[in-house]
Amino acid sequence: MSMTVSNAVDLDSKIPNNVGLSDDPKLKRALERWLPNYLEWWNDMGPTDFADKPVYLRTAVSVGNDGWAHYDHVKMPDYRWGIFLTPRKDEESTIRCGDDLGAPSWQEVPGEHRNSLRRIIVTQADTEPASVEQQRLLGHTAPSLYDLRNLFQVNVEEGRHLWAMVYLLHKYFGRDGRDEAEELLNRRSGDPDKPRILGAFNQPCDHWLSFFAFTMFTDRDGKYQLAALKESGFEPLGRSTEFMLTEEAHHLFVGQTGMGRIIQRSAQLERQDPNGDVRNQGGIDFDLIQRTINYWYSYSLDLFGGEISSNAADFFATGLKGRFRENKYDDHVAREGSYDMKVVENGEVVDKSVPLRNAMNEVLRDEYIRDCERALRKWNSVIEEEGCSTVLTLPSRRFHRHQGLYTDHYFTPEGDLIDKETFEKNQLKWLLRPEDNDYLHSIMTPCYAPGKFANWIAPPARGVDGKPGEFEYVRL
Ligand SMILES: [Fe+2]
Ligand SMILES: [Fe+2]
Repeated sequence: MSMTVSNAVDLDSKIPNNVGLSDDPKLKRALERWLPNYLEWWNDMGPTDFADKPVYLRTAVSVGNDGWAHYDHVKMPDYRWGIFLTPRKDEESTIRCGDDLGAPSWQEVPGEHRNSLRRIIVTQADTEPASVEQQRLLGHTAPSLYDLRNLFQVNVEEGRHLWAMVYLLHKYFGRDGRDEAEELLNRRSGDPDKPRILGAFNQPCDHWLSFFAFTMFTDRDGKYQLAALKESGFEPLGRSTEFMLTEEAHHLFVGQTGMGRIIQRSAQLERQDPNGDVRNQGGIDFDLIQRTINYWYSYSLDLFGGEISSNAADFFATGLKGRFRENKYDDHVAREGSYDMKVVENGEVVDKSVPLRNAMNEVLRDEYIRDCERALRKWNSVIEEEGCSTVLTLPSRRFHRHQGLYTDHYFTPEGDLIDKETFEKNQLKWLLRPEDNDYLHSIMTPCYAPGKFANWIAPPARGVDGKPGEFEYVRL
């Protein structure tokens, strides 16, 4: 069965889409029943208090590369959340990795992969509303209208990502899928009884330093998960995540440049202050920035799953999930080959060789780490250009982990094995402290005048959609 996927988006439909929803009345009805529940969730758990303010948002109107984004002032509850799949040519519609490499990809869910696929989709889906919940109060402390707009853009697009996954659940997983879609609106980030599925998505995101670190590090995990799913032999999932990646790029931009702008401003304030005291100038000191990096980066590393994983091996072998840019590899089967990693044995960190398929989570984590290292290099060059000597670093992948091989051990940010007592004595030096929030809240008073920015962050290099500095991104 082929899919009705086109470049043009049906914008007149209650649910904008390019999947031919009007040809599938049963599915259309089911999704239209889910819509009010979604809106109720958005009103309860989405951004607080800005529902009646027009925000300069982009909306997808086409899925082609030729400028799919349409910009306009929209009130968030009126945002046109839709279902978009990237069209593919027939020759791209084959299984891209594993034992069935080259076989036609699946247009329907194969029975033997049903549970795995549902789990993969639900886990991805759950992160989308979770991050909206984590960020819901941040509008009150935004450093500018530009940043406020970016926050809301990220929020509505995470909402759309939820739609993308709920469409798959409704269309391909019958009753179970509909139940899962309901549950996605019932779990809550940080709720002790009904938490979100993954750890990082239950951590509080109390202020803009964490927001930028979250979009930098945690959304970036999302990029790599989506990129691995884009290679999926289940074609609707591959096409859906491929389109999500185009939106995700903006979230990473918000995080990387947001952190970059804080770092630039901190360097300026350090030089400005007679004692080099950034806090004395109302800025965010590099020690706090480093601890924020340590915190969010380590939680984000957890999201890739166990270093040695039979699930990861199965997902790859069956073609459910590929590697980042699978086509750049020569060998898409990976039955041979091994991966060398560090493990803890008898109180020591030693090398261990693992069959490549079992190390697929680690292979993806490596790509992620390289990407983060590029961002760190950029930030450090900004610090240097401003005439300061601080060098920010990423902690070791073993530091402060809650998933995988290193969970039950303790490491310094440099990756040296230490005992629990030493870790506990030092953790306030390495990670966020409760009193950080008091300081950050004291400086994060909202700055809503068009063209103005809070003292603790530098303005961006350019506006959204080529708009000038004074542009009213959110009409308050
Ligand atoms: Fe997302
Ligand atoms: Fe995102």
